[in-house]
Amino acid sequence: MSDLTFVSTNPGKAREIAAVLEPFGVRVKWYRRELPEPQAATLEEVVAAKLDAVRDISGRVLVEDSGLFIPSLRGFPGVYSAHFLRIWKFGPIFELLESRPRRAYFRTVAGLQEGRRRAMFVGEVRGSISDRARGRHGFGYDPIFIPDGWDRTFGEAPAEAKNGISHRARAVRKVGTAIAGGRPFGATARSRGALKTR
Ligand code: IMP
Repeated sequence: MSDLTFVSTNPGKAREIAAVLEPFGVRVKWYRRELPEPQAATLEEVVAAKLDAVRDISGRVLVEDSGLFIPSLRGFPGVYSAHFLRIWKFGPIFELLESRPRRAYFRTVAGLQEGRRRAMFVGEVRGSISDRARGRHGFGYDPIFIPDGWDRTFGEAPAEAKNGISHRARAVRKVGTAIAGGRPFGATARSRGALKTR
């Protein structure tokens, strides 16, 4: 087993990440800390800022940032997903989508750091926005997101089902694969879809 510290205030994310990394022999310690969320144009920029803010934590450290992107709303709420949900909940999205295509996708960028080395890993899941909130599982936008090929929302599905296909699980499985391959910051990680940031 190897250890990794996941830094976030979100227990739902910590649970998902621990479950996904366990089969890779990675034990996840959750470190509850508020991280900066700068107003940035991309998830990658937010993740870079979060990694800067966890430099004091030793060992392997993981942070991530995710968003719900709705192409018919020009990608909104996207990088503003957290702010939007806190203030408005789901109502305005349902209203705006009454006359627009309901396609949407979740995207996660996971950032892994150890000392001065870092790498980023991306995961996405495509689907559509439901006509009303359904289900009590998960968190955030889970009750309004129906993944392609499903007839229920993430909110109606048990954690294992969401982890099978979710944006976060896909990004974090790349992290697990890179760690299990022994070179999470090296050529192996890059060739598997990691973006090296320095
Ligand atoms: P952040 O990554 O914590 O900034 O998340 C942005 C927003 O998207 C927050 O409101 C989260 O609740 C929401 N969010 C992130 N990941 C998920 C997910 O897996 N399902 C549903 N909502 C999510």
